[in-house]
Amino acid sequence: MDERIGRILNELEKLNKIGGQWNISHETGQFLYDLIIEKKPEVIVEVGASNGYSTIWLATAARRINAKVITYEFVPEKVRDLVSNLQKANLIKYVQIIPDDANKRLGEMKEKVDFIFLDGRKNEYLQQLKLLEPKFNSNAIIAADNVISHKHVLEDYLYYVTTDSKYKSELKDIGTGLEISQLI
Ligand SMILES: C[S@@+](CC[C@H](N)C(=O)[O-])C[C@H]1O[C@@H](n2cnc3c(N)ncnc32)[C@H](O)[C@@H]1O
Repeated sequence: MDERIGRILNELEKLNKIGGQWNISHETGQFLYDLIIEKKPEVIVEVGASNGYSTIWLATAARRINAKVITYEFVPEKVRDLVSNLQKANLIKYVQIIPDDANKRLGEMKEKVDFIFLDGRKNEYLQQLKLLEPKFNSNAIIAADNVISHKHVLEDYLYYVTTDSKYKSELKDIGTGLEISQLI
């Protein structure tokens, strides 16, 4: 992690404390970063970028392993902040931003996907996972945030990834709870 990116993450963490951004925790960002470095996905998809705090973690890892991030965010003010924060961090060239509703656009994606980070509306995770499944490469990994803080609304998602035999799934007690599911 270079010093400039560390400073930007730090500023965004302060902003997040004021509210309205709903960013992942620092430790969740570090966990996703380490997992990406270890597993070396080529194409990473994020649903729900907000102002780009999590996207900066994903793109910093992507830069190290020569991967690409595709991220979806449909609120125009958030997209503006996302672009500006990625530019400040010199990471914009590793990220393709789709400024639209992921539910409308995920199905159009041409790329095969290796790593997904779900952090949009909690009641849409399962629908988004199903839209992405036909695009998965073997051993694709799905990281879903808020599975402890929003466990009731995520019941259908958690039931699916923990009972469908095509996934191996594990809960990590990090931040608001992260479910890591891998295609086996
Ligand atoms: C929890 S915040 C994301 C925080 C961000 N991942 C981070 O940690 O920095 C959720 C974001 O997802 C966006 N969002 C929710 N549903 C979406 C959808 N279907 N398509 C695109 N963006 C969506 C919201 O506008 C909001 O900015």
